[in-house]
Amino acid sequence: MAMTLAPLSEHTGMEVRGLDLTQPVDSGVQEALNRAFSERSVLVVRNQHLAPHQVLQAVQLFGEVFPQHNTRFALPECPQIHYISNQDKFPDGRRYIPGEGWHTDHSNDVRPPKATILHAVRLPDQGGDTQYANMAAAYDGLSAAMKQRLAGLLAIHVYQSSHSARQLMNLPESARERVPNAVLHPMARTHPETGRKAIYINPIRIEGIVGLDHREALPMLDDLLAHATQSRFEYRHKWQPGDLVMWDNRCLLHKANGDYDMNQTRYLYRIMLKGTVPV
Ligand SMILES: [Fe+2]
Repeated sequence: MAMTLAPLSEHTGMEVRGLDLTQPVDSGVQEALNRAFSERSVLVVRNQHLAPHQVLQAVQLFGEVFPQHNTRFALPECPQIHYISNQDKFPDGRRYIPGEGWHTDHSNDVRPPKATILHAVRLPDQGGDTQYANMAAAYDGLSAAMKQRLAGLLAIHVYQSSHSARQLMNLPESARERVPNAVLHPMARTHPETGRKAIYINPIRIEGIVGLDHREALPMLDDLLAHATQSRFEYRHKWQPGDLVMWDNRCLLHKANGDYDMNQTRYLYRIMLKGTVPV
């Protein structure tokens, strides 16, 4: 069956059908997939049923694997792949829903991952959508004055922002050694492949903005988030069994939804690809 590509919304998302990621992919198809990813920011490959080692193999069409920070979620049989599950609990017994609240993955790294890939293993009957906000479209929608304001501003990214409403699982001791205490990234970054500018913020990781006090920085971050998460910039992914979804952390925020029956298991494999220093 020939591969077909179809847009999933006006600005974000491309659906891929007729592709079997357990089989070798020729260079023409690889190039078309990479181009679609750069231009559409979310790639949804339907009808895949991949074991962890096959996911690992398949994602190398797009780049090199990034070592994820919190090793407690690593699969023992394939540690470069982590799992996302609704069945984990905090030490105090509360359920942990990974990915709730708008964010971009691992922005507290010097070179944050360019992409994150999830492959659905078990899904609830309904709900559990992943929302994406297109931060390049949101940047284009800013006033000229705001674009000018962002130019040159650096945000301070840490593992867990003290301003975040969402609590992350603590890092194990072994991971703390290789995860930076804080890094600075531009608040408007340029996509290395498309050249488009995007707002680069992360409510769970940003501790502050260099040169601004919190009274100025926090409302500014709130305003940017409110602007960027308007529905006109959003693509909302409804998961289907067999989906493999790859998104671009350089120009999107994303958010999970814990809005389904928690007696049902939601379990996905997660893997990330190396990125470059944001500029
Ligand atoms: Fe995430």
